[in-house]
Amino acid sequence: MRGLLEVRDLVAGYDRREVLRGVDLCVQPAEIVVMIGPNGAGKSTLLRTVFGFLHPQRGQIWLDGEPIGGLTPPEILRRGVCYVMQGYSVLPQLTVYDNLLLGAYVRRDRKVREDVERVLDRFPILRERRRNKARVLSGGERRMLELARVLLLSPKLVLLDEPTLGLAPAVVDQVYGMVHELRAQGIAFFVVEQNARTALRHADRAYVLEQGRVRFEGRGEEILRHPEVQRAYLGSLSPPEEPGAKPPPPPPE
Ligand SMILES: Nc1ncnc2c1ncn2[C@@H]1O[C@H](COP(=O)(O)OP(=O)(O)OP(=O)(O)O)[C@@H](O)[C@H]1O
Ligand SMILES: [Mg+2]
Repeated sequence: MRGLLEVRDLVAGYDRREVLRGVDLCVQPAEIVVMIGPNGAGKSTLLRTVFGFLHPQRGQIWLDGEPIGGLTPPEILRRGVCYVMQGYSVLPQLTVYDNLLLGAYVRRDRKVREDVERVLDRFPILRERRRNKARVLSGGERRMLELARVLLLSPKLVLLDEPTLGLAPAVVDQVYGMVHELRAQGIAFFVVEQNARTALRHADRAYVLEQGRVRFEGRGEEILRHPEVQRAYLGSLSPPEEPGAKPPPPPPE
């Protein structure tokens, strides 16, 4: 069966520089798929290619069974794919509210303001800060603003590049909490992460990209327990948690 997103034998890069060297992967509807890999492996390049900023030199990309390789980013956005780039993509000098409105600029209907209100109901911290400039938000609040903005476009698939980079562990949990909530509504996520351990815990399925090729793929917990992945990405000092192992008891109040 074809997935929501299917990438086959993808070769892409910059000018004559080949970065992706034949990548195969898929994302099913409402699935959380994570890709980890070292710096420079080509993870961001893959997202840029799926979203149409780069065109495949070889191979194909399908969305819902239709080829999208070679379409422009606005065309891909209209087909239900949103892309949150690495680093912050909110406009710091605009208010939280205006960032949300701007996020919906490709919509042609008149219900945007109503939908912004609905989205603000789901992100109370953003409602509180709706008149603040985005530049005063904390890192975690900016990530929430990015996710809220994406919701206004009712996407089928969200591409997230390093969504938890630089965030404190509790905030990382909040970001993934929201990802799980949105997935429960049918939105699929393809997430690129350096924070391998956390990301793999939240993944239905995962891929490890090395030097432009998929080196391992499997269910999130399989990849988490894979000895080579452990050695290379998770630090050999921390053994995998046993299935069904109980978390340590919380510290006394
Ligand atoms: N605009 C560009 N022009 C030329 N080469 C680029 C460009 N962007 C990235 N590259 C090169 O492509 C390779 C892959 O980069 P990419 O950003 O996709 O890696 P990554 O896996 O996302 O790494 P990181 O984990 O550091 O974000 C790197 O060698 C990088 O130097
Ligand atoms: Mg990157």
